[in-house]
Amino acid sequence: MPFPIHRPRRLRRTEALRQLVAETRLSARSLVYPLFVCPGSGVKEEIRSMPGNFRWSVDLLVEECKSAYDAGVPAVILFGIPEKKDELGCGAYDPDGIVQRAVRAVKKALPELIVICDLCLDEYTSHGHCGLVKDGEVDNDSTLELLAKTAVTQVEAGADIVAPSDMMDGRVGRIRQELDLRGFHQTPILAYSAKYASAFYGPFREAADSAPKFGDRKSYQMDPANQREALREIALDIEEGADIIMVKPALPYLDILALARRTFDVPIAAYQVSGEFSLIEAAARAGWVDRERVIMESLTSIRRAGADIILTYFAKEVARKFGC
Ligand code: PBG
Repeated sequence: MPFPIHRPRRLRRTEALRQLVAETRLSARSLVYPLFVCPGSGVKEEIRSMPGNFRWSVDLLVEECKSAYDAGVPAVILFGIPEKKDELGCGAYDPDGIVQRAVRAVKKALPELIVICDLCLDEYTSHGHCGLVKDGEVDNDSTLELLAKTAVTQVEAGADIVAPSDMMDGRVGRIRQELDLRGFHQTPILAYSAKYASAFYGPFREAADSAPKFGDRKSYQMDPANQREALREIALDIEEGADIIMVKPALPYLDILALARRTFDVPIAAYQVSGEFSLIEAAARAGWVDRERVIMESLTSIRRAGADIILTYFAKEVARKFGC
């Protein structure tokens, strides 16, 4: 018998063959594009730590959403930078707050675009924490009431999906209860279920000016050392009514993603966060990596590990360039 019989290289010989047998395919249809919206008009301010990303005023945000939608991106997730911040994060649940205004404008111009609202207080609180602060600690249960209120204003403004990212206990259940009470039983919840206390959020916090003014987020976001705990967090969110769950960050947590994929049967999202974006962008700008290849490889890996949906700052570019 000639040696070797098995030659895995046979199927790698040409691009067409490789495509034929590819186990994982990226599609623009599963991408979500994160965008930052700020007050004013005619504002397009580049975020220093995230080159190529901007703080948009509502008018220009609508344009950017249109160009993403035209490129093939089906969904955006919105983060707000309010006029002013206060102890109670009032801007988050103001029916006329920055995100609520943005959602109204975007849905009016692009009714088919899926608009997801990040649901959290940190961009709106003066102390920068994701909940109410009592005696120097982030208080869980009083925060739930404000999150429920925020969800209602976002959905009333036209949000298609709400995405709680605060990591308070019981928030999915409380938000589901409030939405149902108001007749919004059709609105899905995308829960940031396994959200780690990660240094990879650094650039985002500059973008949203949302770094905590004291302490850190370790008393509510997960310890990067833990894997089993992620399964527990996800299970709780599903029990409470989450329709889609999320693992965040993405690339450093592919083990969590793969485990979640094997364990649960709900759709799973992964967030390629600001730090993941900026590391790629910085290395590419220095000429140290091939930018496009690293982008595609990282997104393919996230999908291979089990993500159905990927939130990525590269969404528009990937959809446009690769037309996939
Ligand atoms: C909280 C929130 C954060 C991100 C998404 N939602 C910041 C945080 O938890 O500090 C980070 C996203 C990113 O880094 O791209 N509202």
